[in-house]
Formats: sequence, structure tokens, C-alpha cells
Amino acid sequence: MRLESKVAIITGAASGIGRATAELFAKEGARVVVADIDSAGGEQTVSNIRAKGGEARFVRADISKDEDAKRISEEAARAYGRIDILVNNAAAFVFKRLEEATVEDWQRALHVNVMGTALCTKYAVEHMKKTGGGAVVNISSVHGFVGQQGYLPYAATKAALVQMSRNMASELGSYNIRVNTVCPGAVLTDHTLHRLKELGMTEEDLGAQHLLKRGSQPCESAAAILFMASEESSFVTGAFLMVDGGYTAQ
Ligand SMILES: NC(=O)c1ccc[n+]([C@@H]2O[C@H](COP(=O)([O-])OP(=O)(O)OC[C@H]3O[C@@H](n4cnc5c(N)ncnc54)[C@H](O)[C@@H]3O)[C@@H](O)[C@H]2O)c1
Repeated sequence: MRLESKVAIITGAASGIGRATAELFAKEGARVVVADIDSAGGEQTVSNIRAKGGEARFVRADISKDEDAKRISEEAARAYGRIDILVNNAAAFVFKRLEEATVEDWQRALHVNVMGTALCTKYAVEHMKKTGGGAVVNISSVHGFVGQQGYLPYAATKAALVQMSRNMASELGSYNIRVNTVCPGAVLTDHTLHRLKELGMTEEDLGAQHLLKRGSQPCESAAAILFMASEESSFVTGAFLMVDGGYTAQ
């Protein structure tokens, strides 16, 4: 098992990629803290893990609030005595064009995706430093790399995460804390399927935009996140890994 005796916090683990990652980490031996604003979904992730004999607990938190971000790490450390891994996966999907996006839209995208990630990391690394190191994995997106109409606040924050990871890696390397970014392409979550419907597109249309001619499953991003969180990537920091079926390689 690749995460035996590790303690991992995963934000936004009430659904989608976060849930798939939480379940995979538990299967690999981690004790998992599921942090999300969605209590029903978060508790469901915990039940799924416990049903398979894994160890997990739920912390309800809005990562854009300083006190909540702090409480996630406090509760993880209180329950399990340490923090080894933080996956910053929770996100606000603010898909707007330049002229549509309001101040509130920009604040929501920046507060959750950028500031929330920074706050959760700030509090988790305090604990990682005490136990000799750790791994932080920030979840960006292909939207941090390509310019497309109608995604502006979200895309700007996802690009910011790539740079934030480098800066965090620079500050934390001497504490043996690695910080990396995983950048998924189209993942066929409920959210993506809903978005396709809005755009009048089919799964086949989406697949055609990728070298591998399909969208991905959440477990395919979870596998890349596991690599970045585990000792298998022990000499990788400040890096990003595209998990996009070749979308950005074209
Ligand atoms: N689905 C895709 O195609 C895709 C593609 C590229 C990148 N991503 C990225 O992957 C990550 C997960 O996306 P997903 O598709 O699984 O989405 P999702 O909607 O299934 O999961 C996101 C989770 O974040 C939680 N969340 C939102 N705001 C929060 C807040 N303020 N505090 C705490 N939790 C909050 C939601 O409740 C939800 O459970 C995101 O960072 C997203 O940007 C997704």
C-alpha cells in the first residue's frame, strides 16, 4: 500500500475527483479527512470508505473562510495526530465571459480557488513541519493553460494555482514539503455532463477534442494525484502534470 500510516486531507471530496481520490487514498492505507461544504456528499464519501474497511472522517468547511480552513487541519491533527498530505481540490466553477463577470463572480472564484487553497495549505504545513515533511497537491485544470471563451474567472484562478504551487514549493522545500499541481482535462463528472448539456454538446463531441478521443473518469485524475502525494514522486516538486488525454498537446 502506497500511503500506509499517512494522514491525508482532501478538500472538495464530497463528489467527483475529490471523492475518487479519497476512496483511492483510503484503499492505499491513508486515514482520510474529507473536507467539503456539502455535508451529505461528504458523509457519503466517508460511508463509502468505511464500507470497504477504510478510515475516514468528515469536516464540514468552507475553505474560503479562514476559521474553517484552520479547523480542517486542527480536526485532522486532533483525530489522527499528524498531517502528511493535503489535496487542494475544492473549487468554484465560475464560468463567465469578461463582460458578464461581476465583482461577486470574481470574488467567489478568487476566494475559493486561490485564497482557499492558500489558507488550507498555510494551516496544514504547520503540522507537516512538525513531523518532518509532507506533500501538497493542488488541482488546476487545462483551463489554466488554454484560452477559451466563457471561462474567465475560473481559468484565471486555475492558472494562478500553477504559479502558487511553484512559490509554495520554493518556500517549503527546505522543510521536505513537496508542492505539485495536477491539471485534469475533461472529466466526466455530473458537473461536466451538466455543462455539456448547457453547451448542446455530446460526450462524443467532447471526446473528439482529445488525442485519446474520449473524456476521462475521476479515477484517472485520482491516480495522478496519488502519484504526486506518494513517495513515488519523492524528487518532484514545483511541477505540474497534465491529465488531459492530450488536449493541450495539440
Ligand atoms: N470535472 C472536470 O472536468 C475538471 C477538469 C479540470 C479540472 N477540474 C478540477 O478538479 C477539481 C474537482 O472538480 P470536480 O469536477 O470533481 O467537481 P465537483 O463539483 O464534483 O467537486 C468539487 C467539490 O468542491 C466542493 N466545494 C466547492 N466550494 C467549496 C468551498 N468553498 N469549500 C469547501 N468545498 C467546496 C463542492 O461541494 C464539491 O464537492 C476542481 O478543482 C476542478 O477545478 C475538474
